[in-house]
Amino acid sequence: MKTGLTFDTVALDDENSALVIIDQTKLPNEEVILHLQTQQEIHEAIYLLQVRGAPAIGVAAAYGVYLAAKEILEKESGNGTDDYDAFLKAFTEASAYLNSARPTAVNLSWALRRMEQVVRSHADRPVPEIVALLKQEAVAIQEEDIAICRSIGEYGLTLIKPGDGILTHCNAGQLATSRYGTATAPMYLGHEKGYDLHVYADETRPLLQGARLTAYELSKAGIDVTLICDNMASTVMKQGKIQAVFVGCDRVAMNGDAANKIGTSGVAILAKHYGIPFYVCAPSSTIDEKITDGSMIPIEERNGEEISTMWYEKKMTADGVKTYNPAFDVTDHELISAIITENGIARAPYTESLKRMLEGTKGH
Ligand code: MRU
Repeated sequence: MKTGLTFDTVALDDENSALVIIDQTKLPNEEVILHLQTQQEIHEAIYLLQVRGAPAIGVAAAYGVYLAAKEILEKESGNGTDDYDAFLKAFTEASAYLNSARPTAVNLSWALRRMEQVVRSHADRPVPEIVALLKQEAVAIQEEDIAICRSIGEYGLTLIKPGDGILTHCNAGQLATSRYGTATAPMYLGHEKGYDLHVYADETRPLLQGARLTAYELSKAGIDVTLICDNMASTVMKQGKIQAVFVGCDRVAMNGDAANKIGTSGVAILAKHYGIPFYVCAPSSTIDEKITDGSMIPIEERNGEEISTMWYEKKMTADGVKTYNPAFDVTDHELISAIITENGIARAPYTESLKRMLEGTKGH
């Protein structure tokens, strides 16, 4: 499956102890590659959305905490010590710091937990060996992400046919993952098979991930993509231009409620009104076993300047006007036609089907 991007969303430069990312806040006008070496830089990059999208955040955090472990080891060796307890304490502090960067995408804490598990389950090994194992785990998380997205693409493609119009919201593309994306994977695969799909990308206020990122990466791949404002979705649906909606997600509760970029639930309500299937693409790492329904998902609230000032030459609100800027919303499971995972397509009742999807991962 081919995509049109010539750079990696996230990579590790181990020799220079750096996390390498494409700065997504500069796209599509500039392709700026950042080499982040300090934990503060990595935390800030996640918070500022220089690296973003649930799976990409997970991979960035895994590499980030590996780099923290390397630094802790170097400091300890400088002191002539190889103390597991001191290492574990410093490691968990570094992990908690990265985990605090953004609250909604569960992939962040999922990846960090996976990394911490490596440390805890090898307590009898010398610290340098544990650090080497952490690198292996972070690389595995990234390689699995690529395979997962491919698999989501294959399952997703069974739900569409040549010539279909597809609407997507935000960016659940290669830029949000390590390759292929989740919601975009069926589009890349379909394109390769000559499906002649017509993708409509919601611009996705307030941070314009649809306009700046989805439209950019799909057009680079030669996929037919049309940008619309968020409030035009109803019109294109009514005009019969949309046969299916594919979106990504940041956290799925066990009853199938799914958190994704603000505006997603509105698109789902419209899709239901017009009888259009609404599909959520979710790597199993996005399913939160500890959460029974969407009301338990923490929703990030961001600075109101993203609404009032960003993208404008001048502030667009009068002084004193209040803003409210929730970054995600939760789509009710009843509006979701299916949740596409790397282990298959889950349909209602999700309490049962999502468990089967998770079992598929544990069985690997
Ligand atoms: O705030 P963002 O840009 O990180 O939000 C991203 C999304 O909502 C994506 O749709 C989601 O993370 C899925 S990415 C495969």
